[in-house]
Amino acid sequence: MPDFLDIHTTAKPDLRAMIDQAHAMKAARKGQPKGQPDAEQPFANRMVALIFEKPSTRTRVSFDVGVRQMGGQTMVLSGKEMQLGHGETIADTARVLSRYVDLIMIRTFEESVLQELAEYASVPVINGLTNRTHPCQIMADIQTYEEHRGPIAGKKVVWSGDGNNVCASFLHAAGQFGFDLTFTGPEALDPDPEFVALARAQGAQIDIQRDPAQAVAGADLIVTDTWVSMHDSQSNRERRHNLLRPYQVNEALMALAKPDALFMHCLPAHREEEVTNAVMHGPQSVVFHEAENPLHAQKAVMRYCLGV
Ligand code: CP
Ligand code: NVA
Repeated sequence: MPDFLDIHTTAKPDLRAMIDQAHAMKAARKGQPKGQPDAEQPFANRMVALIFEKPSTRTRVSFDVGVRQMGGQTMVLSGKEMQLGHGETIADTARVLSRYVDLIMIRTFEESVLQELAEYASVPVINGLTNRTHPCQIMADIQTYEEHRGPIAGKKVVWSGDGNNVCASFLHAAGQFGFDLTFTGPEALDPDPEFVALARAQGAQIDIQRDPAQAVAGADLIVTDTWVSMHDSQSNRERRHNLLRPYQVNEALMALAKPDALFMHCLPAHREEEVTNAVMHGPQSVVFHEAENPLHAQKAVMRYCLGV
């Protein structure tokens, strides 16, 4: 059974099928109470472990609700309260959890923890964010773009700000879903060149542009994220803010994109830092649809992992 560790390591047709299923599952629930079980119960008798070594609101609640809607059961585990946080190896944790649960989702720091967990678990593992990537978020973002504007293939996405984990998964998606991506941010915070090269090798046009005004010309979608991620040291906070201030997404920047350009942010957002309040709540913002969609996209990801 497949893991879902990254967008670039998942086959294109599988990604497409997951997004299609996410659209269908969302449509099927329209207007229903949140706690109402889905008509289909593919997770009946399934147990899912959700491990968090970092804080989470959206990922935590949306995975939990999603499993329950599909008829399964969950346990939410904090890394700190597990033996994992007290020296038990990741491999042993993986072997043991595989005896109790059918599926493991983990949000962690180092990519190597995710990889080791996946290697030693005999059940599928899902990446719920690492320092390096956040693939479930971008599946939800693709779903969100498509439900507002149709296919994302051939569109121009602009990432303004820190070339972080969410940006990395956007680059992976550019290659797999066939859209172009312009990164605009300070050189010191460029995305990993390996991910840029990978997307280019798949035929996506990836541009690095230091001037945000030039970058957003012709943009269909503008995306940003926090200037200080959970894994970033607070001692660099001021330096990061100084470097990133020119890349704030504000109304002046939005006005330079296509008139029907959308704005997205995975949240949590810091108003008047990476995005202004006016853009967050403006007519082009779809951030709260984007916040809903992990519920649907992750259900499709989980079904893919269990083949149900
Ligand atoms: N966007 C996102 O992953 O949010 P949480 O950190 O609240 O899970
Ligand atoms: N880049 C952010 C995303 C939070 C969902 C972080 O890693 O903290």
